[in-house]
Amino acid sequence: MLIRNAEPKDVPAILARYNQAVRETTAAWTSREETLDERLTWFEGRMKQDLPVLVAVDETDAVLGFASFGPFRPREGYRLTAEHSVYVDPAAQRRGIGRALLERLMEIANAKNLHVLVGVIDGGNAASIALHEKLGFHVAGRLPEAGTKFGCWLDLVFVAKVLGPMQSPEA
Ligand SMILES: CC(C)(COP(=O)(O)OP(=O)(O)OC[C@H]1O[C@@H](n2cnc3c(N)ncnc32)[C@H](O)[C@@H]1OP(=O)(O)O)[C@@H](O)C(=O)NCCC(=O)NCCS
Repeated sequence: MLIRNAEPKDVPAILARYNQAVRETTAAWTSREETLDERLTWFEGRMKQDLPVLVAVDETDAVLGFASFGPFRPREGYRLTAEHSVYVDPAAQRRGIGRALLERLMEIANAKNLHVLVGVIDGGNAASIALHEKLGFHVAGRLPEAGTKFGCWLDLVFVAKVLGPMQSPEA
């Protein structure tokens, strides 16, 4: 397994992974699958902003998972905080891929002098919460019944990690 920067040719596989999660899980709080055009626009937007889109690939270069981060909230005071996401093919889970993707994202965030990484997770997603806690994130808040999907209320859980040494923000 190799982690590398995603290329345009990987976008259909990224889309397939995301749409599988839309159909079958509460990782994304929507039932609307994306189109290839929408994912390509998202990918190009990330590239223009010099934001990472990573893929984990096997020895045949098939995509096993992807991860990315982007702005947490639009106002400029949040510019040193990013929100990330990680998706791994169900057939490839529990093999360290989610961990490897998230560790690489953290390295990139550190290199960009970002200060905080935030994950926004369904409170029932034990796998994602466990992954984040293993990598030093802590549960920073829980909004009970903030969402709904598949006829259930969903709690919104924020996991956060302060990166690097404590530093004063530039003015
Ligand atoms: C969450 C997710 C990314 C984890 O990816 P993964 O490749 O299976 O995780 P890893 O194999 O790297 O696991 C790393 C650690 O996370 C924890 N973990 C992962 N899956 C777990 C599970 N199902 N139950 C409990 N702990 C789990 C474990 O501590 C694990 O370490 P260990 O295997 O040494 O015990 C994956 O389950 C996934 O893609 N889920 C659907 C999409 C999603 O929920 N994304 C997160 C939203 S940001």
